[in-house]
Amino acid sequence: MANEFLVFDSVTKRFGALTAVDNVSISIRKGEFFSLLGPSGCGKTTLLRMLGGFERPDSGRIYLDGKDITDAPPNRRRVHTVFQNYALFPTMTIWDNIAFSLRLQKKPKAEIEETVDAMLELIRMSDHAWKYPSMLSGGQKQRVAIARALVDRPQVLLLDEPLAALDLKLRQHMLLELDTIHDQVGITFIYVTHDQGEAMSLSDRIAVMNSGHVEQLDTAAKIYEAPKSAFVASFIGDTNFFEGGIASEDGDYCTISVPGFASVCAFNDRKLAVGQSVHLSVRPEKIRVTLAPPPPEKGARINVFEATVKDVIYQGVYTKYWLESGGRRVQALKPHSRFLLDQETITWNDKVYMWWHPDDGYMVE
Ligand SMILES: Nc1ncnc2c1ncn2[C@@H]1O[C@H](COP(=O)(O)OP(=O)(O)O)[C@@H](O)[C@H]1O
Ligand SMILES: [Mg+2]
Repeated sequence: MANEFLVFDSVTKRFGALTAVDNVSISIRKGEFFSLLGPSGCGKTTLLRMLGGFERPDSGRIYLDGKDITDAPPNRRRVHTVFQNYALFPTMTIWDNIAFSLRLQKKPKAEIEETVDAMLELIRMSDHAWKYPSMLSGGQKQRVAIARALVDRPQVLLLDEPLAALDLKLRQHMLLELDTIHDQVGITFIYVTHDQGEAMSLSDRIAVMNSGHVEQLDTAAKIYEAPKSAFVASFIGDTNFFEGGIASEDGDYCTISVPGFASVCAFNDRKLAVGQSVHLSVRPEKIRVTLAPPPPEKGARINVFEATVKDVIYQGVYTKYWLESGGRRVQALKPHSRFLLDQETITWNDKVYMWWHPDDGYMVE
């Protein structure tokens, strides 16, 4: 436990009758870009506030670099927060904003100058040092807020929905900037967001939270491809669920009997037993849609179902199909990577085949 860099050990926080953070244990590595991802109200900010020292847990301990910091005041932990509203001083220039905490600590003048100039370079704002916050765009203010939080070399930087106030293009740009800044400073970043795209594009690992507890802690790819719960599967991206009971097993595979629909073959990597109820999650991009049935594949038990096209939504990068099969709504995506080659005009009310390989479904309990 203590050899991990940052540890939440069974941390619980209640507000009256509400348990905002419920027995959370997480270990974060030194230098990691770690995200807390979950819907609004699931306890992300409360977890960060306990790490920053602004809230005290009701039970559990928090360790940083081998030291128990649970009861340490905010200024005694080298953990800084970048707030969503930037919290810059409006009457100070950008340079003075960044220098503020170093001056407060009475650092030598030469050191302050060197550090602030390096920070301005890091956030690529050297030409704007003389400006006041009101003269900057949202993305620029965000970068200054980050520089200000980094200037006295914290061990951990906390970012609580830092991009929420920015528009989409700027958000995408800032994601790249954050990635670069993280690479350059090499300290641990903890990033809080309700946006799965942000979390997935930046993080070494992600903790998916739901009503105060961690549902799954994994890499982005694992969380997407192998969600541990129905909550994770539906929160991270779109998916189709087929609910049923395991009817038979055969080596690595099993058959799930989905009431009112059909039997579906799935990869049974967790060796679930006959009779167990499961949700099978099949991502839309894993489902192929064709006018002709798929050619038989030797040795493979492909799931093939007849379906009717109910809606076609052209999205540029892909087309999304809403299908009806056995009284069920199923969504499928067809990427346009080979637009001219496999152009098949599938349209409303067409009778089609939807099919996927058993390895492309994932069972969640
Ligand atoms: N100071 C507080 N007093 C009472 N309830 C709070 C307080 N802070 C947070 N909560 C509640 O705790 C839950 C988790 O909040 P929060 O950690 O802010 O969630 P998130 O950041 O994931 O949106 C919410 O239901 C919220 O209303
Ligand atoms: Mg929050």
